[in-house]
This record gives sequence, structure tokens and C-alpha cells, in this order.
Amino acid sequence: MAASTVLFTIILLFLGLSDSSLQVQSLSFGINYGQIANNLPSPSRVAVLLQSLNVNRVKLYDADPNVLQAFANSEVDFIIGLGNEYLQSMSTDPLKAQSWIQQHVQPHLPQTKITCINVGNEVLGGTNTQLWSYLLPAMQSVYRALVNLGLSKQVAVTTAHSLTILGNSYPPSSGSFRQDLAQYIQPILSFHSQVNSPFLINAYPYFAYKDNPAEVSIEYVLFQPNSGMVDSVTNLHYDNMLDAQIDAVYSAIKVMGHSDIEVRISETGWPSKGDANEAGATPENAGIYNGNLMRKIEEKKGTPAKPQVPIDIYVFALFNEDLKPGPASERNYGLYYPNGTQVYDIGSQGYLPQLTFSADSNINASHIHLQVSEPSHCVHIIMCLLELIYSVNFLGGVRHADRSNMKNS
Ligand SMILES: *[C@@H]1O[C@H](CO)[C@@H](O)[C@H](O)[C@H]1NC(C)=O
Ligand SMILES: *[C@@H]1O[C@H](CO)[C@@H](O)[C@H](O)[C@H]1NC(C)=O
Repeated sequence: MAASTVLFTIILLFLGLSDSSLQVQSLSFGINYGQIANNLPSPSRVAVLLQSLNVNRVKLYDADPNVLQAFANSEVDFIIGLGNEYLQSMSTDPLKAQSWIQQHVQPHLPQTKITCINVGNEVLGGTNTQLWSYLLPAMQSVYRALVNLGLSKQVAVTTAHSLTILGNSYPPSSGSFRQDLAQYIQPILSFHSQVNSPFLINAYPYFAYKDNPAEVSIEYVLFQPNSGMVDSVTNLHYDNMLDAQIDAVYSAIKVMGHSDIEVRISETGWPSKGDANEAGATPENAGIYNGNLMRKIEEKKGTPAKPQVPIDIYVFALFNEDLKPGPASERNYGLYYPNGTQVYDIGSQGYLPQLTFSADSNINASHIHLQVSEPSHCVHIIMCLLELIYSVNFLGGVRHADRSNMKNS
């Protein structure tokens, strides 16, 4: 092994141990691994990156066998995607759902932890109104197929919605779904309740800010200190928009008679770059949003209406995706460039280490996993090595905060 590979391995070892033995950081956030790009690193390299970041949950937009294979024997939980293009055929033919699962899910179980299938993305309220009526039947087909195959206990079935499904979101306690979608959402809620699966929403306070930068307080959308707002019905105080959006969804669900369904954030994020008319899309704001978001996740706090229920969040996204259509912001949501360099700093705590991919592509997820389970008496040696590495400033991107956290624990 080249010296740099040894150091790289030591860093990985440290990052792994810092979670399993030292309890320094528990970054329990999920991440969206989108692949609409022609320059992304191989899935096995991505597996290394994600494990070293301690990301233990990944959401895909498809069921890419290369990705699922690369994460075999890792501790990472997957939500995989069943694209909108499948909805029609699966809604009418349950056997199609069954063969899809046999082809895309079963071969990877149990080595890769696929725990959820996301059937369709942002279907309701989307422009293809035909799909609206296919959504629930497709979800039911997938669920029935999982039951037939004996997998329904380990793999959940859900769908991710955009916030356009809300007709009213202010104040949060008055949240309600759009009238024209109620006939579709009501039975989907019954489905969630019956099969005990979560309700997923893609929530972007950024959109609210971009559409109205003069009126929407940037501090309120970026989780920065601000006076916030009080819900006049409940008297609950909101100091950030994401919490208000989540509680509006809980209220809308409650209007339809359900208080038994958990809301999770399947996407949220902030672009580091945008077109001239996309206010707020800067690396600074993206770093503040995602850094504060991760801090919030780490604190395991719920929303004002559900303070006891920590919010389960998938950040959008792992990489900038150069082939995504639409405004420039769409191609600039990544925490990382495709070469593994961070796009921006994440807050003063420096939650995300900077990594350059090792030239040794033999390092893979199962390899790291083995390293993580090394006995903890290695920790002292590693700390000394780290001191050495810091002193030669080998990895400038690993922040000093990491060291002070380690000493405090
Ligand atoms: C990962 O490494 C293990 C052992 O070193 C090897 O058996 C496995 O085939 C590798 N997987 C990939 C996807 O490279
Ligand atoms: C990675 O890519 C970005 C964007 O293209 C570039 O600015 C940066 O210098 C690259 N980093 C390395 C280490 O090559």
C-alpha cells in the first residue's frame, strides 16, 4: 500500500471508530443518492465515502443493481425507487409488481438492507394527472407481492409527495390537502395506516424563499435565530419553516382522520448555485441550511406539535448532478462534487469531512465494516497518529472541532 493509502485507511478507521467506540458523532441522517450525471464515482467508491461519513441510510431513485451490490454487507439501509413509468402497468397487473421485486429486490436480500420501496415520486399534484389514479393500486400491488414473497415484514411500501399536495399550510395547525387530491390521498392514508408505513414528503423551504425573497425571512428558512411566528390556533411557536411545513402535513393528515401515521422528510436541501432569478442559491446559504439541519437532526428534536417524535430526514443530495434538466439550481444541490470534494463548508462544526477518493479501488464497504469492528484499544494509537497527521496538515478538511469533540467525550 502506498503511504497515502495507509493514511486514508487510518482516517477511515478513525471515522468508523469515532462512531462505534468513541461516540463522538452519530450522524443519523439519510441521503439521497441521485445519479442523473455522467461523471459520478463508481458505486463502490461511493460506498466508501458514505460509510466514512457515517451515513447509514440512503435513498435511491431506482434499484440500480451496481449500487445495491456495492453496499452488500454494509450497515446502510436503503429506500429504493420504483419509477413513475411503472405505475400504470403495476396498477393493473400485480404479477408485474411481483416480477419486479423478484428481479430488483430479492437478489440483494439480505446482504443489502433494502427496507423500503418508494412507489412513484411526487405523483400527486404533478402534471401527469393520469398517474394520480394509478398510484395507490400500484402501491397495493407492490405490497401484495411482498406479502406473497414473505418480505412484507422487512420491506415497507410508500410514496414520496411534494408539498404542492397541500392546499393550505398556514398556520401549521390549519394545514390541509388540496381539494382535488383528497379523493386520492384519503385511501392512501388508509393504506399507510393498515400496513404501518410512513408518509414521505419532499420539503424545500428554499422554494418558498426563492419565490418571495422580499417577504420570507432568510433566517426563518435557514434555521438561524429569528423571532419566528406563533400559530394563533395552538399558540405554538415556530422558529423555522421546515418544522412548520412538517406540522402542516400532520394537520392535513389529521383532518382526514389519522393520527397514527408518521411523517418523514424524504428530501430536503438547498442549492449552492442557481440562475440569476433564483434568489438565495449560494454556497454560503446551502452550507448554513444543511449544517443547521444536521445539527437539528443530531439533537433529535421533534417539531413544536410533535416534540417527542424526532424527524427522520434524507438530505438532498449527495452529489451535484450535471445532467438534471431545469434551472441551474437543479444541478447544484449536492454536498459533494463528483470528485469527492465538498461543495461548501457545513457550518462551524464541520460535520462533513473532506475526502479525496483513494486510488485503491479495492477498498470497499465490507472492508471498512471489518475495520470498524477492530477492538477499541486501538483508539489511543489512532489518536496519536491523527495528531501526527494534523501536525503535517495532511487532511486540511478534517476540522478541529472533530478533535475537541473527541476530547470531550
Ligand atoms: C469487497 O471486498 C471483499 C473482501 O475484500 C470482496 O470479497 C468483495 O468482492 C468486494 N466487493 C466489491 C463490490 O468490490
Ligand atoms: C473537484 O471538482 C471541483 C468542481 O469541478 C473543483 O473545483 C475542485 O478543484 C475539484 N477538486 C479536486 C481535488 O480535484
